[in-house]
Amino acid sequence: MFLRNAWYVVAWDRDVARTLLPLTVLGDRIVLYRTTRGTPVALEDACVHRKLPLSLGRLVDDEVECGYHGLVYDFSGRCTRIPGAKHVPGIAKVRSYPAVSRYGLVWVWMGDPTQADPASIFEVEHWDDPAWGRNSGGSMTVACNYLFITDNLLDPSHVAWIHRTSFGNEACAEEPIQTVSLHNGVVASRWMRDVDVAPFYAPMVSFKGRCDRLQHYEVRYPSHAIIKAVFVPAGEGARQADGQHPQAMIMDSYNFMTPVNENQTIYFWFQLRNFSVNDEDLSKAMDDGVRAAFAEDRVVLEAVNEGFRNKVTPNLDLAIDRAPLTFRKKLAQLIAAENPT
Ligand SMILES: [Fe+2]
Repeated sequence: MFLRNAWYVVAWDRDVARTLLPLTVLGDRIVLYRTTRGTPVALEDACVHRKLPLSLGRLVDDEVECGYHGLVYDFSGRCTRIPGAKHVPGIAKVRSYPAVSRYGLVWVWMGDPTQADPASIFEVEHWDDPAWGRNSGGSMTVACNYLFITDNLLDPSHVAWIHRTSFGNEACAEEPIQTVSLHNGVVASRWMRDVDVAPFYAPMVSFKGRCDRLQHYEVRYPSHAIIKAVFVPAGEGARQADGQHPQAMIMDSYNFMTPVNENQTIYFWFQLRNFSVNDEDLSKAMDDGVRAAFAEDRVVLEAVNEGFRNKVTPNLDLAIDRAPLTFRKKLAQLIAAENPT
């Protein structure tokens, strides 16, 4: 089950052009294209006649022509032409999904169109801030249920084991995690005091020696996350909590997960940083490093998905699962509210 009344990222803006792009989102087959004016359009990918995917047809100006008998649909999903027929019946219509380009991504509203408000799209702080740098980001398909990824992104401790050569080190193994439930999501966070800088970040910090490090893992409903990493010289973490420390190195990692179906998820990400703003080599290194680290997650998450599908004894939840379980419980309530029995 999925939350329908929500925006989901379905593609990079750069990948949506004057072609018909087939996608599956929350189990729905969708065709995505861009109008001549640049607006993204998302339609049900099935002709009303013989249910041939419209993505097998062709784009004619701003309309889609079915590849079987030439029925034509406009951006609202309304059929505007049936070759050989004197008139087009009013019921000749495919579903249209509200679609918006923002932050270099295309977002599609999967629920009741009358509730679609672009103002509710996840806000990316500092997106257009010249004092912050940005890497181009990436995406990958992960063969797991999306909730195993939200689990992962509410679990700061996993970096100690999955990412021991990049995001994590031994310091990340034991420090307790605070969980806070918000109206729109859950935060799992902790400050680690007087620890080594983990390998991925070590070349980036502007100070020498050990650090205080904040891990702020925040996932909002249904499946969008900001992971904030803050590094300051050891002993200075309390000052950074006020946002004051001049040497603070901050990396905001945005993570948007879109379920394809119950066992497959498309994962989109990019990072913003408050240092080396115009350093293209660093942006490239971050893209490469993050992709390699997320590939480490993918191996584990896909195996966990299989483990849960084939389990013969119950799984045991631990104290570190508090944030993921809080998130799952509230999201399940939101989904249930959309599906009254
Ligand atoms: Fe990870």
